[in-house]
Amino acid sequence: MTLLEVSHLTITTDDALALVDDVSFRLERGEALGIVGESGSGKSLSCRAVLGIVPESLNVTAVGIVFDDVDLASATPSQWRRIRGTRIGAVFQDPGSYLNPSISVGRQLAEVHRLKNGSGRRDAWSSAVTALGDLGLSTPELTAHRLPHELSGGMLQRVLLAIAIAESPELLIADEPTTALDVTVQAEVLDVIADLRATTGLAVLFVSHDLPVVAHLCERIHVMQHGRIIESGTSADVLQSPAHPYTRSLLTAHAEYGLDRFLNREVAHV
Ligand SMILES: Nc1ncnc2c1ncn2[C@@H]1O[C@H](COP(=O)(O)OP(=O)(O)OP(=O)(O)O)[C@@H](O)[C@H]1O
Ligand SMILES: [Mg+2]
Repeated sequence: MTLLEVSHLTITTDDALALVDDVSFRLERGEALGIVGESGSGKSLSCRAVLGIVPESLNVTAVGIVFDDVDLASATPSQWRRIRGTRIGAVFQDPGSYLNPSISVGRQLAEVHRLKNGSGRRDAWSSAVTALGDLGLSTPELTAHRLPHELSGGMLQRVLLAIAIAESPELLIADEPTTALDVTVQAEVLDVIADLRATTGLAVLFVSHDLPVVAHLCERIHVMQHGRIIESGTSADVLQSPAHPYTRSLLTAHAEYGLDRFLNREVAHV
């Protein structure tokens, strides 16, 4: 069953430059779709269009951005409020900037639970601590008392994930959520997202410039370049037999600079 269908999305500047050029994609319920492409290819703007947060200076046109029968392209502010943050959650590259720096992360998460459940402060706090534990933080109570700047990037991204999924959304939009993290922590956060999919049936729109990372998490991949989708397919097909030269170059770059190559070279020298 289709959860999200974006048809013929175009985003232009006032001087008619197309930043996103006739992009269409579809996500089934519970599916993970990856969007991969170089910096500036229009990945984030495409996500922002689904969230209704494209900068006002840009023009958005689409035949439809349909989320479970609601056309977001023409949604009213009250329809948006019922969907964004509730049925669609989102995490971005820079988790720190979405939190209030002077309030403990536990209180910020508890506030979301309080609004959702209408529960008292104490119950909301314990829901927040449980949620942090569920996302793999080993000392959730201690973490909850910390201010954002006292946490590592990986911990902050888990807090943001906890906030994004607090209202049990059907879709999570994850725009380069692991790009700022080191490789080990990146793998941990990817595992958390994969676990969430398995336990909650969450659909995920996952954006990254790293093709193997996207393939790890997603069933299908769209490759974007210069605002267009230039290749689509199952993750296995795109990784094993990329059709477009640009996709091949993404894989070659990975093979040249990737850890595997480095390790193999080290082994070869021994
Ligand atoms: N408010 C804006 N006004 C004008 N141009 C913009 C605006 N926001 C983004 N752009 C341009 O639109 C293009 C697509 O931007 P977008 O942020 O979607 O790229 P991206 O694929 O997410 O890149 P990255 O991997 O660096 O995050 C870029 O060329 C960017 O400079
Ligand atoms: Mg981006």
